Amino acid sequence: MSEASANTTKSMDAIVALCRRRGFIFQSSEIYGGIGGFWDYGPLGVLLKNNIRDRWWRDMVLAPPIGPDGKELDIVGLDCSIISHPKVWEASGHVAGFADPMVDCKKCKSRFRADQVAEATCPLKPSKRPGECGGELTEPRQFNLMFETYVGAVRDEENKTYLRPETAQGMFYNFRNVLDTTRVKVPFGLAQLGKGFRNEITPRNFIFRSREFEMMEVEFFVHPSEANDWYQFWRKTRYEWWQSLGLAGQNLRLRDHEQDELAHYAKDSGGCADVEYAFPFSGEKGFSELEGIAYRSNFDLTQHQKTSGVSLEYFDQERNERYLPHVIEPAAGLTRGLLAVICEAYTPDESRPSKVYMKFHPSLAPIKAGVFALVNKDGMPEVAEKLYHELRSRYVIEFDVKQSIGKRYARMDEAGTPYCFTIDGQTLQDQTVTVRYRDTGQQERIVLDQVGAFMADKIV
Ligand code: GAP
Repeated sequence: MSEASANTTKSMDAIVALCRRRGFIFQSSEIYGGIGGFWDYGPLGVLLKNNIRDRWWRDMVLAPPIGPDGKELDIVGLDCSIISHPKVWEASGHVAGFADPMVDCKKCKSRFRADQVAEATCPLKPSKRPGECGGELTEPRQFNLMFETYVGAVRDEENKTYLRPETAQGMFYNFRNVLDTTRVKVPFGLAQLGKGFRNEITPRNFIFRSREFEMMEVEFFVHPSEANDWYQFWRKTRYEWWQSLGLAGQNLRLRDHEQDELAHYAKDSGGCADVEYAFPFSGEKGFSELEGIAYRSNFDLTQHQKTSGVSLEYFDQERNERYLPHVIEPAAGLTRGLLAVICEAYTPDESRPSKVYMKFHPSLAPIKAGVFALVNKDGMPEVAEKLYHELRSRYVIEFDVKQSIGKRYARMDEAGTPYCFTIDGQTLQDQTVTVRYRDTGQQERIVLDQVGAFMADKIV
């Protein structure tokens, strides 16, 4: 069976239930009945999310990719405010254009995205398409997706601004600040990750389309004549990055946009490609977007220069030329990526007590190892506790001396913990422990002193 078809047989309901049961993801405000499109990350979820986030930051900023010329890229980080001057969103085009065309059913008052009517169902008659409840659909109307808020005490138009729908704009309006305060030279990148807010009309598919989510974006500034080459470089680099998280095989693909799909800023330039993943809910299309890599030309810097009146031109000393750099933007979803990692890891296995285990790449696993005493007596807990203290400054470790060992292994399988070390009677005689491998359930003995080296070798 191919991996893609393996994913389509995974049950999204079962994945959501495991996320709830094991504390990966909870519905926001659950005790009040929840709120559509908002989610909370529980103890395991936040560890997993942080691991993906840290991996991105390391691979994009701390140790960035090697460019086509064999040199390491120059990428620096930013962390901008979520609320910014409203003119930012006028300049970016979001006030005028960040909208979805929606239609309403005049009978049942349900609202649908105009481009999704063909796939949607009527909430009153779920077996029917919108409008088939006997109602008439309105003409499409534009609904802006930005959350509005007011700064200060007076709630009038002058004090109105927005929660950012993307992290990108902070990097454009800080372009001049970075040039003035660092030694970066074109080509270089700015990187930012953090929350984005979109008042999605139809949040759905668990955390896939949320109203509050996290994204990870790079704006890579280049000379216009080199933009197409850099675009090709980033398409490939970002696709390989997702593969390196364990999203390999037929569940991942890189798809170039058709001309009629291109965003306004990419129309006249090189194009846009999506890294897509075969989620269990991806349906007929088979794949859904994880990341977009867009050649944005100099659209954003031009807009901010025009709207602010501040020159954002770059003086290129080597070329002796003044210009507005062009931009390649790899824009990824962190929370969406986390969902892909969870779907990929979910592995039903009827032979195990837990019936399922989470096959996370060891570097992403929220808990890296369990340290257990076989029984809570005879000196075993003390040895286990000593090992736990040795490991915990470097890794997230689950320490447990209670419950039956089978139950502890089952819990670790559902948490996706790749290794469990158990101190037993033999440990006290020959200073060896068992190591249990999550993916096979097999065990072998290793020397107690070597557990640290074992972990350093396995967890990169
Ligand atoms: N600056 C470009 C930009 O924002 P985007 O394709 O709209 O591009 C980037 O968003 C990524 O953010 C997407 O590829 C997706 O992974 C994630 N994303 C977008 N909307 C989302 C939502 N409502 N919920 C979760 N993730 C979302």
